[in-house]
Amino acid sequence: MDGSLNREAQDLLGSARALVEELAEEGVDRFDEVPAPAVTTAAPETSAPAATSRPAESEPTRGPVVERPAEPPPIFAEPAPLGLAFEATWGPNPTLDDVRTALGDCTRCKLHEKRRTIVFGDGNPDADLMFVGEGPGENEDAQGLPFVGRAGELLTQMIEKGLGIARADTYICNIVKCRPPENRTPLPNEVSTCRPYLDGQIDAVRPKVIVALGKPAASLLLGRDVPITRVRGTWHEYRGIPLMPTLHPAYVLRQYTQEVRRNVWNDLKAALERTRS
Ligand code: URA
Repeated sequence: MDGSLNREAQDLLGSARALVEELAEEGVDRFDEVPAPAVTTAAPETSAPAATSRPAESEPTRGPVVERPAEPPPIFAEPAPLGLAFEATWGPNPTLDDVRTALGDCTRCKLHEKRRTIVFGDGNPDADLMFVGEGPGENEDAQGLPFVGRAGELLTQMIEKGLGIARADTYICNIVKCRPPENRTPLPNEVSTCRPYLDGQIDAVRPKVIVALGKPAASLLLGRDVPITRVRGTWHEYRGIPLMPTLHPAYVLRQYTQEVRRNVWNDLKAALERTRS
């Protein structure tokens, strides 16, 4: 086995071990009942730019046929853990500082083990428009800011050149604040552990509209496992705030077709218009 194959095998083994440990922690001891893990067979390096390795949407891909496993488990269909036993040190009207302080140097889930930086959020604490993504990638982990890699550049362009508003006038964060290793989709226990802090951020900013970027964020905020290509462009509500799911910018980079760009553009335009209505 050559060096890179060996490393890949070790990574896969490590991920499988982590999954088994996490399932055991959650009390699962019958693996014949566990749905297939959300591991996407990677397309060859040459056809899949690194920054687009996420999101692992159940969306169509173009180009070489990529073998995909069965649908990922409906990990975001867990009941909303509002009022969960977490350190709710903030009251009904928290500030972002309250929430950040409560988060502290978080070690509540395993993501802390490999992260470099906690990527809390970025932007205007009084923003009308809030974007919620999946989780930090490599650049975000290095810089401590959300959406600063290739997908982030596209998001920034869509906001600034497309919508004609400054990125700094919006608020941007993710459903998990630490980078999942190898940019994998965050696991259910990671998402639910981090969720109170996302809810705290939403309660602090009280935006007029939330845009969920990609399947994991949309599924979490809608409370069920959603096919993002079907729910995008439709209005929902989260914590009393209008919610617009749309495609993740990494998906747009990967599927750079006119139709995909037009769809996202329409969703963002509708979101901005709603903030002004
Ligand atoms: N993708 C995300 O979902 N969030 C980031 O912050 C960067 C890339």
